Amino acid sequence: MSDATSALSDAPETELGVNEPETPAVPHPTDEAAVSAAVEAALAAFAAAGDLAELKVARLAHTSDKSPLALANRQIGQLDKTEKAAAGKIVGAARGRVNKALAARTAVLEEEEAARILVEETVDVTAAPRRRRIGARHPLSILQDRVSDVFVGMGWEIAEGPEVESEWFNFDALNFKPDHPAREMQDTFFVEPAEAHLVLRTHTSPVQVRSLLERDLPVYVLCPGRTFRTDELDATHTPVFHQFEGLAVDKGLTMADLRGTLEHFARQMFGAEAQIRLRPNFFPFTEPSAELDIWHPGAKGGPSWIEWGGCGMINPNVLRAAGIDPEEYSGFAFGMGVERTLMFRNDVDDMRDMIEGDVRFSQHFGMEI
Ligand code: PHE
Repeated sequence: MSDATSALSDAPETELGVNEPETPAVPHPTDEAAVSAAVEAALAAFAAAGDLAELKVARLAHTSDKSPLALANRQIGQLDKTEKAAAGKIVGAARGRVNKALAARTAVLEEEEAARILVEETVDVTAAPRRRRIGARHPLSILQDRVSDVFVGMGWEIAEGPEVESEWFNFDALNFKPDHPAREMQDTFFVEPAEAHLVLRTHTSPVQVRSLLERDLPVYVLCPGRTFRTDELDATHTPVFHQFEGLAVDKGLTMADLRGTLEHFARQMFGAEAQIRLRPNFFPFTEPSAELDIWHPGAKGGPSWIEWGGCGMINPNVLRAAGIDPEEYSGFAFGMGVERTLMFRNDVDDMRDMIEGDVRFSQHFGMEI
């Protein structure tokens, strides 16, 4: 302690003297050199303070009641009368210098701090806002839900099947002959190893047979789902797409039931003026089979017939594959592409827009749920 004290009084400008409030070297009030050293120590400490917090430490060290100059001031009272006046002058002038320097340094640091806060807390009102984008449901999902709602509203159930499907469900059970062209490599994704006889389902029709095997009769199911074909991606084709499959098997169902169901469905989807038209066609799993056209009053190029999907009465061979007696039960089925439906229902010109995942495309369709 005494070492530090002497170091302070010997060299008050050193680091130790500047920043060591614990060890005040009290100058004798008449010792002008010592008082002046205390003043210099204070001025150096104020100058060294880089901000208001540091200046506060220096202020307490050099101007508080326990600072060297305050203590020197206190000693004046004990001095001889002859010394008092001179001591008062020396110490008073010293304290005056210190207070003035403190005020000046405070002003400088306050100004610096205000300027720093201004910079740090600047709000750039011209900056682009970082908006949190709200997502949107994909229109394909919305459309599938809509279709499902129409059929659930008629008391139908929603059925599901696997996307990796056995060849038997995808083809054989649906009455495709072993040499049917749809089985060929250019249409179907076969899953290795070949002995497993697995494919990526090429349509949702395998769910027909699955539903008949899994459920009790009568069966009224709708199956929306993802399907796969080896098509190149372009404006009207995509190797991964969606279909919905309808299947009704009951006693006494006829083509009139199929027609009535599709008509109701078309009006729910396209409005009260929508009409349907069936044109003869061939599918291995329906007999008779038809191509379904829809009269679309809101079509882009004016009202017109648009090819929408396939349908027909369930082929008795399919009923037999599912263990159902075709003499007792009959049924109908239909299948449509979801992407294609979205294209003409909502004027989407390019199928690629549906798969690119740009949220702006989805937002365009709103948040219909
Ligand atoms: N599965 C057929 C297709 O993908 C559509 C269809 C379904 C036809 C049901 C008739 C009955 O083209």
